[in-house]
Amino acid sequence: MASLPDSAPPGIAPADRIQRFTLTERALHWMHASAFFALLVTGLILYLPALSTLISRRNLVKNVHIWVAVAWAVALVVIFVVGNRKRLAEDWREIETIDRDDRRWLRGRRAPQGRFNAGQKINALLTVAFALLFALSGFFLWLGERDHRFIFAGTGTVHDLLTFLSVGLLVGHLYLALIHPSTRHALRGMTTGEVDEDWARKHHAKWVEAERIASLHERSSP
Ligand code: HEM
Ligand code: HEM
Repeated sequence: MASLPDSAPPGIAPADRIQRFTLTERALHWMHASAFFALLVTGLILYLPALSTLISRRNLVKNVHIWVAVAWAVALVVIFVVGNRKRLAEDWREIETIDRDDRRWLRGRRAPQGRFNAGQKINALLTVAFALLFALSGFFLWLGERDHRFIFAGTGTVHDLLTFLSVGLLVGHLYLALIHPSTRHALRGMTTGEVDEDWARKHHAKWVEAERIASLHERSSP
């Protein structure tokens, strides 16, 4: 089924489907994921001597790593400038709010969840924090090679540590998105933009209820 355009009001989707992600959100996700994989592969080649020797073009790999980082930053700015900023701001507000239900959910209790469950909020917050720290430590690695006053002990270690931590996070993320039977339907939302309403109600009850009330208000207003 074709995805709705970015301008469509959230929640309005044919029949029993509900719009989950706008074009802007999907573009941001897939751009970030592609850049991350390219940086991970090139980073690992730089990190592992065996791979560096095998590829034997360390300088080329290093340049690709750095230019992908630049392209990632540019693409991020482009998406913020031309994309649906209102929706991204709503996402951010939702992600940074850990409410009572989220705290219960994190303690392993049953609690209704909003558009993002507490685990997804933590994943998103860590992804943002890691991206900033990757960019900062990577920038100083690059600058330190050009001006030795900017060589700081531990910058490389921070960069390496972030790599291991984010791979751990990613393995969990990919398991839930691609393998776990009850959550893998979410992939539909990140590809077409829509998910089944029944699935959404089961996993994100507070969100579906809020959408229902919003659409009732919309219909009743003149
Ligand atoms: C804006 C983002 C980033 C920038 C500016 C950046 C920059 C750099 C620079 C300048 C180096 C040093 C290259 C060298 O002299 O050997 C490096 C190495 C490396 N990067 Fe990144 N990087 C970024 C993101 C990432 C990401 C997302 C990952 C992994 C997911 C990553 C993994 C690595 C690894 C594993 C190394 C090798 C470190 C070592 O040899 O100990 N980088 N990066
Ligand atoms: C093939 C690779 C990937 C797949 C299949 C995938 C799949 C998904 C899906 C289906 C969602 C939506 C979940 C929902 O309905 O809420 C999602 C959200 C998200 N993804 Fe990915 N993803 C991939 C790679 C990545 C990478 C590399 C990162 C970051 C480094 C990332 C970060 C996020 C974040 C922060 C969210 C929102 C919070 C969450 O749902 O956990 N994803 N991803």
